[in-house]
Amino acid sequence: MELIRVKNYQELSKKAAAIITAHITLKPNCVLGLATGSSPLGAYEELAAMCAKGELDFSQVTTVNLDEYVGLDGSSQQSYRSFMNKNLFNKINISMDRTFIPDGKNEDCEEACREYEAILERVGPADLQLLGIGVNGHIGFNEPADYFPLKTHCVRLAHETIQANKRFFQKEEEVPKMACSMGIGNIMSARMILLLASGRGKAQAVAQMLSGPVTPRMPASILQFHPRAVVIADEDALSLL
Ligand code: GLP
Repeated sequence: MELIRVKNYQELSKKAAAIITAHITLKPNCVLGLATGSSPLGAYEELAAMCAKGELDFSQVTTVNLDEYVGLDGSSQQSYRSFMNKNLFNKINISMDRTFIPDGKNEDCEEACREYEAILERVGPADLQLLGIGVNGHIGFNEPADYFPLKTHCVRLAHETIQANKRFFQKEEEVPKMACSMGIGNIMSARMILLLASGRGKAQAVAQMLSGPVTPRMPASILQFHPRAVVIADEDALSLL
């Protein structure tokens, strides 16, 4: 794994946007695996600004998102579909029919996951998969477990994840308990992985991911086995290394 050390979130966002931009420039019809959460937000702002200036063209890009809550309609503000539309897709010249996210409004999670897996097989592995990291080391919504799930699957969210994500909801009870997430196999099939970590809250997970044993108890540790995984982390996120 390659580590890019940066001072702060702003620098992290600029570097991440530069790497994503390079991918689109080299391969205008690339497949980008995207993530939600606060970690990629700054990079999305940078990309939107470049696109607005006409310096970046998303017209041929396809995107596949990591995950979605189960039971939230795409129009619900807290859904990851709304997050992506608001923070990136509505600000760039992407064709919406090439932006894929699991169908959160399908209450039948198994079916939503099967359908999403078929989409991933059709569009092919991501050229670049962007990731954040959960405080417990989750990637996508692959929570600590006894094994690494390979394909898109239903997940019961861990207590720490519900606690961490309740900030996006009015009340903790509103946070969905289930999600549909790409599996570790899907994530590992990307040609390149770019994980962003910022803040002290991530320090323990980052230290274990980079230098601990590879175990499904720390899902992000699997990235040690990826041939092209790059981590951009700021000083706070690296404070326990
Ligand atoms: C969520 C998402 C992850 C994300 C993680 C970290 O649970 N499912 O894809 O990486 O939280 O979020 P943040 O970047 O807000 O810390």
